[in-house]
Amino acid sequence: MDARSPATAFPDVAPEALLALVRAVRATGYGFTTVTPSTHARVNARPEAQQARSLRDVLGWSRPFASGLLPPDLVAALEQAGAVARDGAGWRPTIRLSSLDDELFLHSAYPPSAPDAVFFGPDTLRFVSAVLAHLAERRRPVRRAVDIGCGSGAAGICVAKRIPEAEVALVDINPAALRAAAVNAEAAGIANVRPHRSDMLEAVSGEFDLIISNPPFMIDHGGGPLGAGLSLRVVEAARARLAPGGSLVLFTGAAIVEGEDPFRAAAGALCAAAGLSWDYREFDPDAYGEELDDPAYAKVERIALVVLTATRP
Ligand SMILES: C[S@@+](CC[C@H](N)C(=O)[O-])C[C@H]1O[C@@H](n2cnc3c(N)ncnc32)[C@H](O)[C@@H]1O
Repeated sequence: MDARSPATAFPDVAPEALLALVRAVRATGYGFTTVTPSTHARVNARPEAQQARSLRDVLGWSRPFASGLLPPDLVAALEQAGAVARDGAGWRPTIRLSSLDDELFLHSAYPPSAPDAVFFGPDTLRFVSAVLAHLAERRRPVRRAVDIGCGSGAAGICVAKRIPEAEVALVDINPAALRAAAVNAEAAGIANVRPHRSDMLEAVSGEFDLIISNPPFMIDHGGGPLGAGLSLRVVEAARARLAPGGSLVLFTGAAIVEGEDPFRAAAGALCAAAGLSWDYREFDPDAYGEELDDPAYAKVERIALVVLTATRP
C-alpha cells in the first residue's frame, strides 16, 4: 500500500462530527471537481503539489498539510470527524469532499486503495447526468427507487431531492459507503433515503419504479466476462424487481472486442427474455484507454461508457 494511503477507507465516527465538518467546509465556499485517479496522480506529482496550500488542496487533492495552514476551529472539526491523521509534524486528510448538484459529497481520500474505499469520480457525474436525463423524459411516477451500489449515495440522493415523495433505498455491500451515504444525505437535507447493507437487492424487499446503478465494471472488479459480471447481475435484479411501468437506468463500462459489444448482446438478451423494452447508448466511446495495457484486456480495443435503460411495460 502507498505510504500515504489512509489507514481506513472512511472514518467510523459519530455521524454528527462528519456532518458538522461538511457544514463548516461548505460555509467557506469550498468546491472541488473530482478527477480520475490517473489525472490526480499526474497533478499531485508536480513539485508545487507536494504540500497543501489551501483547503481545496487538503480536502480535494488529498495533499498533506502543515499545522497552521488551516484555522484552528477547522482543524478541530477535521480531527473530531476523523478526517485527518498525523503525518510527521503535520497532517494528511483521510477523506475527500467533492461537488455535485450544488451539494458536497464525502468519499475516501486519494489514493482510494483500501478494499472498502468509498468511490466517487467523474463517472459519478456522468451516471447522475444519465439518471437525471431519464427523470426529465419519464412520464410514470416514482414511488419507490433504489440505487444499487450507491457508494457515496450521490445518484440516489439526487433522485430523492427531485422526488421528495419517493422512498429511495441506497444499497451497497460496503459499510463504509453506507456511512458516507447517510451523512451525505443529511448534509443535503434529504430525509427520504434509507441506506441498507445489501448484496444487490437481497436485503430490500418489494418492487421498484426506478432502479439505478453504476456498478464496478473494470475487469479486476466487475467479475464475469470482461468485467461485465456485476452489471449483468444488476440487469437480473431489475428483471425480477421492476414494478409495472418501472425502469432500470444502468450506467456501466462495456469492453468492445473487434467491433462487437458482448455486454450489449448479453444484457439485451436478458431484457428481451423478460419482456422488458430496452434502449442502449454509448455515453462515451473511449474511456480508460490506459487500462488496455493490462494483459487481461489484450483482446479489447476500447472501453465504452454506456447507458442501458430497460422498462417493464
Ligand atoms: C463504481 S462504484 C459506484 C458508486 C456510486 N454508484 C457512484 O456512481 O459514485 C460501485 C459500488 O458498487 C458497490 N458494490 C459492489 N458489488 C456490490 C454488490 N454485489 N451489491 C451491492 N453493491 C455492490 C461497491 O461497494 C461500490 O460502492
